[in-house]
Amino acid sequence: MEVLHRPQLFDFHGVSMTNAFTDNWDNVQNFKARPDDILIATYPKAGTTWVSYIIDLLYFGHMGPDRQTSIPLYDRVPFLELYVVYVARNAKDNAVSYFHFERMNGGMPEPGDWSTFLQDFMAGKKVFGSWYDHVNGWWEKKQTHSNFHYMFYEDLIEDYEKEIDRLCSFLGLSPSVEEKERVRASVTFDSMKQNKMTNYSTVPVMNQEVSPFMRKGTTSCWATFVSQCLKCQTKLSVQLRNTV
Ligand code: A3P
Repeated sequence: MEVLHRPQLFDFHGVSMTNAFTDNWDNVQNFKARPDDILIATYPKAGTTWVSYIIDLLYFGHMGPDRQTSIPLYDRVPFLELYVVYVARNAKDNAVSYFHFERMNGGMPEPGDWSTFLQDFMAGKKVFGSWYDHVNGWWEKKQTHSNFHYMFYEDLIEDYEKEIDRLCSFLGLSPSVEEKERVRASVTFDSMKQNKMTNYSTVPVMNQEVSPFMRKGTTSCWATFVSQCLKCQTKLSVQLRNTV
């Protein structure tokens, strides 16, 4: 479980990265998506696992139980694969979640203490760079691409049914009421926390005793964390939410 050397951040085409995400870059660049592929894009810790599992169940939930009990989600939904589903989460909760994730994940750079982490986060010196550039860059893409669906983690928490209807309508899916209920029961925070296929307990480099991958799953957990969080960029979250 102990990892001796945490990876170092370096600048990769203007974005902070670690080797794990750039070693395979030629393949990433040459990747050819098929028209019916779905790309799920998020800044780290914005709800990738949650939305990946929802989409996986909407498409493949009817397949035999083997798929659901033996293939970890990260193998079912590869990180790169054209419909684009983007998930944004407000900067403050995203930062808190990312901090705990770096603490527990030996495959990520050392986060340092909270105030060091927060300064680096605000300066964009985190794997995948600046939160702002990420959510804003994809938001701008959405304006010119019709096959693009932009979701918010907070909306999924507040009105799950409405968000799933919007997602299904975007993907051209019409699940029955029973199917939707089945998916709903499987993707609650508690179900996914118990589910070895979605809780990342199969990944040795993650020390869930330091912080569980399925940590809190709420909005505004930042409020009880540290007042420094207030310095984070929140304006964009509000602007985006008002225009959706
Ligand atoms: P917290 O650390 O705030 O709990 P990602 O999958 O992009 O790494 O995002 C992980 C975050 O999404 C974690 O946030 C995790 O708890 C939360 N999450 C995962 N599944 C969830 C669910 N079913 N309901 C609510 N939050 C969920």
